[in-house]
Amino acid sequence: MEVITKIKEMQIVVDYLRASGKKIACVPTMGYLHEGHLSLVKRAKEIADVVIVTLFVNPTQFGPNEDYNRYPRDFAKDKANCEQAGVDFILHPEVQEMYPSGYNTEINIREISKKFEGAFRPIHFNGVATIVSKLFMATKPHYALFGQKDYQQTLVIKQMARDLLIDVAIVIAPTIRELDGLAKSSRNIFLSESERKNATNIYKALELAAEEIHKGEKRRKVINGIMHNVLRSAGAFHIDYAMSADADTLDEPEEFLSGQRIVLLIAAYLGKTRLIDNYIVSLPSSISSRPERFENF
Ligand code: PAF
Repeated sequence: MEVITKIKEMQIVVDYLRASGKKIACVPTMGYLHEGHLSLVKRAKEIADVVIVTLFVNPTQFGPNEDYNRYPRDFAKDKANCEQAGVDFILHPEVQEMYPSGYNTEINIREISKKFEGAFRPIHFNGVATIVSKLFMATKPHYALFGQKDYQQTLVIKQMARDLLIDVAIVIAPTIRELDGLAKSSRNIFLSESERKNATNIYKALELAAEEIHKGEKRRKVINGIMHNVLRSAGAFHIDYAMSADADTLDEPEEFLSGQRIVLLIAAYLGKTRLIDNYIVSLPSSISSRPERFENF
């Protein structure tokens, strides 16, 4: 495994690999790797010949009062984990390398980046889209892998790749969870013991809402209310949002349609730690649309 810090060097390597017919997979991360990231590496190894993990805590996706400085970093541990997971290259650039002085361009994804996470973190998705496009330029991957945990981010990145005609297949892998359902996240280390216990209620809220949808609940506000109730009764949560929306467009109809794929999205603070999670569920196809003559069978 090789660690590369310079973009030019990375580009020379990937040009050579592409010319040799190798398929490249890139796993963009902000480091402090956990099993969620390593599951992306595993999947990347299954679909490509060469795996590049990028480790870069991207300043432009953090708002002024967010946790950029506090974001956990442990390069030595990340390097050991990557080595063990069979990663071929780590790209670990300095901020100055990704954003050289005079840098003056950013990518703005309209619509899908403005609601939910975007409403609470207004510059976040511009920062994500900008850095991910730069990482694509640096690593020229055939495949790029992201976790479903950052659901809205996956939609933003797909939209960006489509709109900018970037020739990369975006692969989304399932969220990896602790035994009690809490989604693995680099920020989980900030939780105190009692916050950690309480945090499982986010998954409980998602599961309960999903269960009601499975039973046929289609009223958006009722679904949202179920999630809010679980978090409120758990106490201690400061809820940014607990919402349901169309899983592809993030539209929010009053009532979902039979068979519609719905995403349940939660962002909430426990103390100073902001946690996000989501769940995809489909509303059952309606039996009332069956022809009447079959109804008594
Ligand atoms: O999901 C993340 O870790 C980051 O948002 C990403 C995609 C690596 C961009 O900095």
